[in-house]
Amino acid sequence: MMKKETGAIEKLDKITTIAMKRGFFWPTAEIYGGKAGFYSYGHLGKALKQKFEHLWRLHFLEENCYEIEGSCILPEPVFIASGHLENFNDPLIECKTCHFRFRADQFLEDNNIKTENMSIDDMTKIIAEKQLKCPKCGSWHLGEAKWFNMMFPIALGAAGVKDTAYLTPETAQASYLSFKREFEATRKQLPLGIAIISKAFRNEISPRQLLTRQREFTQAELQMFFDKDEINNLEDRKWKDISKYNLILLPQKAKAITETTCEEANKKLKIPKFYLYYMALTQKFYLDKLQVPKKSFRFRELSEKERAFYNKIHWDMELELDTLGGFREMGGIHYRTDHDLLGHEKHSKENLHIFFNNKSFIPHVIEVSLGVDRDVWAFLDLFYKEEKERTLFTFPKTLAPVDVAIFPLVSKEKMPDKALDIYSMLKDDFSCFYDETDSIGRRYRRQDEIGTPYCITVDGQTMKDNTVTIRARDSMKQVRVKIEKLKEELRK
Ligand code: GAP
Repeated sequence: MMKKETGAIEKLDKITTIAMKRGFFWPTAEIYGGKAGFYSYGHLGKALKQKFEHLWRLHFLEENCYEIEGSCILPEPVFIASGHLENFNDPLIECKTCHFRFRADQFLEDNNIKTENMSIDDMTKIIAEKQLKCPKCGSWHLGEAKWFNMMFPIALGAAGVKDTAYLTPETAQASYLSFKREFEATRKQLPLGIAIISKAFRNEISPRQLLTRQREFTQAELQMFFDKDEINNLEDRKWKDISKYNLILLPQKAKAITETTCEEANKKLKIPKFYLYYMALTQKFYLDKLQVPKKSFRFRELSEKERAFYNKIHWDMELELDTLGGFREMGGIHYRTDHDLLGHEKHSKENLHIFFNNKSFIPHVIEVSLGVDRDVWAFLDLFYKEEKERTLFTFPKTLAPVDVAIFPLVSKEKMPDKALDIYSMLKDDFSCFYDETDSIGRRYRRQDEIGTPYCITVDGQTMKDNTVTIRARDSMKQVRVKIEKLKEELRK
């Protein structure tokens, strides 16, 4: 094994150990041996996820954008109309000897064969030519690559009555089903944004890499409905804001990443202004709000063969993660045209046209789709740090699961009472954690290990002058402040 790969596995193992031990996540139904593709979040993982979702809402829900909640189980006609029942497939290979089934494209990639633009017939051909062996039993007898549909069907109601529904494979469909209602209920204006943060379900052939390829996962998706004639017309103030902004791009035929202003991307790469706005908004979210290092971020343009069946323009947002061996998809910006609304109009026979800009039409959609669990994993990877005497997560302060830990130096001399008073004073404004066990040094290390930015300690001096120390995670420096000024200091 190469050194880089060994390092990646070591880092992955270390993060997973901390995650399971400290309460970020673990396999679902672990006591029954777990089930591939399902993970549960502990209190820290849930808090990290919630903080990410909160920041996402603050950042992406601009004017005339609303969050709704749909159903995760939807009737069959929805997915006939959307095309998922026909097209939402992954290539599957079955070993003829041991009958192990696995994903053909991942199998080729694992054998260092690039599958970009590769057809399913070519996958079969190359697997045979290279005499690749079954990853489970080592046999050469592998079947042809075939399409496998990833939808999860469920039978509704009493047995015997055929009423099939499906667990939704993306949150987007619930937004399309609600579009007409939301348009009527809001200001009857375009662009209109409908956002959903919810679960999605896919019967992945080979779930793997922990949170990043699961069978049940969370998506944060924003559907922007707009008039297609306006795709290259952005409000002046918004264009002014982004026209000189550099996007980090890997266009389809380029060999290396380039930094390109939105203006140039519009002129040279012909990316429409309305689409560029959502690329810029997404990049700003990752670089500015989430403090992802610039070198770890890029947009990659997908070829026609790689694109999802509903997309006309498709750039994936990718982050470079040591533990996943390079840049990996975290989200995507998808120009879905009127594919979905048109399909729903046709199959439901409900008129989904609107009257706007003096004409009747079906709006087009640009979707910003992010995978929340992949992001959670990305933060664990990107912000993991080892120092001589400690291991820590240098999460941005807005993302850390615990904002502030509160300790009495010793569990006597009324220090615990004072520390618990401080806990009560802060708990409505900050996520707080109280701890009086072990030495103070160990308590600091434990908080470093879960990425808590600040620790407050009540000590002997506190009992005399009502001051406490605040210790900063990254510098380990301490300052002494008056208890009455604590909220103000922490907010700063
Ligand atoms: N509505 C569009 C859509 O669903 P997608 O590229 O299939 O597009 C969007 O999924 C995002 O959801 C991905 O970029 C990824 O972050 C996340 N995602 C997809 N499949 C996943 C899985 N099996 N496990 C975890 N996250 C997944």
